[in-house]
Amino acid sequence: MELREIVRKIDPTLEIAEVLSEPPNIVAITYSEDTPKILKIFPIRGRQINHLQREACALKRGEGIPGIPSLVKDYGRQEDFYAILREYAKGKTVEEMPGRTIQDEHLYSLLLETIHSLHTRGIANLDINRENVVVSPNEQTATIIDLGHAIFDSDYSFWNGWWKIHQAKQDDLNDLKNLCWKVPGII
Ligand SMILES: Nc1ncnc2c1ncn2[C@@H]1O[C@H](COP(=O)(O)OP(=O)(O)O)[C@@H](O)[C@H]1O
Ligand SMILES: [Mg+2]
Repeated sequence: MELREIVRKIDPTLEIAEVLSEPPNIVAITYSEDTPKILKIFPIRGRQINHLQREACALKRGEGIPGIPSLVKDYGRQEDFYAILREYAKGKTVEEMPGRTIQDEHLYSLLLETIHSLHTRGIANLDINRENVVVSPNEQTATIIDLGHAIFDSDYSFWNGWWKIHQAKQDDLNDLKNLCWKVPGII
């Protein structure tokens, strides 16, 4: 099925402005009510939990935390796809920044605060890498855009997998440090 047709079936009010990633996992900038938003459509494979279902869940649990986009709409399962609409974070990914790193201490502290807030709400494994962090055009704020690999405290107990979530939180902090290695005193 052609992309525009898939999008029309999911939400006829959306208009595709730019396709950022091609099928099977589609990420596109769309316009709805004159505002750019990110539409993600992933195919559902068998009974496997879809990354997008996980992302929708993480975004709902993290709603209101500065530095993560809000979930505009969870379309849920639509035939063979799962689809969500997410707030668009204007700016560049760290991959596109000079030196492919964050060099600013202020941005490091903001991201650290975002990560601590997510951890406090029981969300970890934030898949923090150069392609999943967007820095705003004035370089005053940063957004962790992709929570598709998140795991949740509530899925584990002290007796069952507690170590896994503890390790995931440590990994998030190390991943942030690796992204900000040029900030003095970080590593
Ligand atoms: N708000 C955004 N601003 C800029 N680029 C974005 C934004 N959202 C997504 N992208 C681009 O699209 C890519 C894929 O989006 P992402 O949500 O990370 O999907 P995936 O789950 O496929 O990794 C990102 O790595 C980034 O390059
Ligand atoms: Mg990503």
